[in-house]
Amino acid sequence: MAEVIIVKNEEEAGEIYGRCVADLIKAKPNAVLGLATGSSPLAAYQALAKIVHEEHIDVSQVRGFALDEYLGLPLTHPESYHSTIHRTVVEPLGLDPAKVHVPGDVLNGAPLEDGDKIAAAGPAYDSAIEAAGGIDVQILGIGTDGHIGFNEPGSSLASGTRVKTLAEQTRIDNARFFDDDINQVPTHCITQGIGTVLKARHLVLLAFGSGKAEAIEETIEGGVSAFCPASALQLHPHATVIIDEEAASRL
Ligand code: GLP
Repeated sequence: MAEVIIVKNEEEAGEIYGRCVADLIKAKPNAVLGLATGSSPLAAYQALAKIVHEEHIDVSQVRGFALDEYLGLPLTHPESYHSTIHRTVVEPLGLDPAKVHVPGDVLNGAPLEDGDKIAAAGPAYDSAIEAAGGIDVQILGIGTDGHIGFNEPGSSLASGTRVKTLAEQTRIDNARFFDDDINQVPTHCITQGIGTVLKARHLVLLAFGSGKAEAIEETIEGGVSAFCPASALQLHPHATVIIDEEAASRL
């Protein structure tokens, strides 16, 4: 792994990300940020927002591409990743909402039966990232099964953005956002592929707590394997893994 940093807590990890991205935006005002949902990046977004406001950094040209989205939820659903990214990133940072994209945006809750529309959305998203010049910094969380974005174990390491079925474990993990009722958790998603993620120029993966220890061990010390999608970071020349002592406990 290019770089593993062990920190005391999420705030310390957030400050490392915040400083790195703030400096990037100062040097490149139209920087392209790869954005993720989940709880792991929240302190990082807060730290970045604080620096942006304190240092009066102009973010009006910053562009963003989210990693993934549930299929079948309208954009306005509070747990859609469209809503989540706008609530946790776009608003606190003051980004231009028109410059921030989420893979399901064009689908807006289209029914799964709308096969052609759904199949076209993934390649169109990858083309949009490419047309923007590629992602400068991609922030990542990790699932307890080693997934990144919604690339579950078994996903091709060369995959592009596409529609996937959610693993049962991920639906169980994410039921907390849907009244603890797994039946309300969507069954499908659209996610940047592992190949898409690997094209970003810098990857920053954040993980905290003992629940992530096994996945982090596989990611850093296991072989590169589709059974642990995050292990693909070992193939990337500039991957930074920032974890607390609990997530690092099996290293
Ligand atoms: C979801 C997201 C992932 C995220 C993961 C971990 O499954 N699709 O992108 O990394 O949750 O979430 P958390 O950071 O809340 O543990």
